[in-house]
Amino acid sequence: MMPRPFAEVASVGVAVPPNVVTNDDLSRVLDTSDQWIVERTGIRERRIAGPEQSVAMLSQEASQRALAAAGVGADELDAIVVATVSPDRLMPSTACDLQALLGAERAAAFDIGAACPGYIFALTVAEGLVASGQGETVLVVGAEKLSTITDFQDRSTAILFGDGAGASVVRRSSGPGRGILSTFIKSDGRLAPLLLRPGGGSADPISEKVVCERSHYMKMAGREVFKAAVLAMADACDEALRRAGVTADQVDLLVPHQANLRIIEATAKHAGLPMSKVMVNLDRYGNTSSASIPLALEQALAEGRIGPGSVVLLVAFGAGFTWGSAVIRW
Ligand code: COA
Repeated sequence: MMPRPFAEVASVGVAVPPNVVTNDDLSRVLDTSDQWIVERTGIRERRIAGPEQSVAMLSQEASQRALAAAGVGADELDAIVVATVSPDRLMPSTACDLQALLGAERAAAFDIGAACPGYIFALTVAEGLVASGQGETVLVVGAEKLSTITDFQDRSTAILFGDGAGASVVRRSSGPGRGILSTFIKSDGRLAPLLLRPGGGSADPISEKVVCERSHYMKMAGREVFKAAVLAMADACDEALRRAGVTADQVDLLVPHQANLRIIEATAKHAGLPMSKVMVNLDRYGNTSSASIPLALEQALAEGRIGPGSVVLLVAFGAGFTWGSAVIRW
């Protein structure tokens, strides 16, 4: 077997819906304010997709950009791994729809449900496929239309989430030391009741009761999730760095899941990284779950904050609970 790094993130492409919804827009329909939302979360606006824009279509746009940036054709893909908690349908997978849209005829396509760290989980799966020789080129996508599973009558969650997609081509490492140096993924299913969509699955199939009780929307115990996120993301940073044999002062940029600025600041503080080395764009997009890390990565690349040789630390936490991290040398 090849030595690690087995695989590299060759590119990042993103897509967001054009419709911008500001905090002021939300405060017209909910008992909230721009000031409260900015102070408690750091979010200023988010993108909301219309009914004509599916998760597969957002994924297609992001994927085409990622494929073009890597100089890879859709027909070269061996696998497509889509991380999402808001699939277009429960069956079949959004990845299969994406495969058809891209014309990626050779690819095996499947979704994974790992919530906000979904991109990191998908990256881990992609790296494994490359390392085991089952594929050379894998498309990893994090894509969400969280607006369809958000209760816009619940001010404690409605202000947090947004829609978007990000995609990466993951392929065999192109040079010594270049690529994914480590990944770390973990879960604790005992804590599932703190952040979930209780209704609409096979345990409580969609019914008039489910819709009346609004249990097909996300429910969250915000404070508990906040505390768990701070602890888990700190631990995940340590673990990815340890596994990569990299120290915090060698990290050029921390790209955390964009859920709450206070969680990001606590994570950076624990890791000993100044905020100047942390990518933050949740003010523009809110929490886009599995799309948040590629959306932040793409902006960091576009702004020149990541370049060849940069050491990048990814970290995320979400429903499940699930959490994960990765160190990549670009
Ligand atoms: N506007 C105004 N007031 C609001 C509000 C809103 N949008 N949402 C909640 N409040 C009120 C509450 O009703 C509460 O009022 P009370 O004190 O009279 O009961 C008060 O603000 C404080 O609520 P609390 O939930 O304790 O606030 P918080 O500081 O914990 O912030 C979150 C709430 C949701 C922003 C925060 O808990 C959070 O970000 N949690 C983690 C979320 C997350 O990351 N989830 C995804 C993980 S991937």
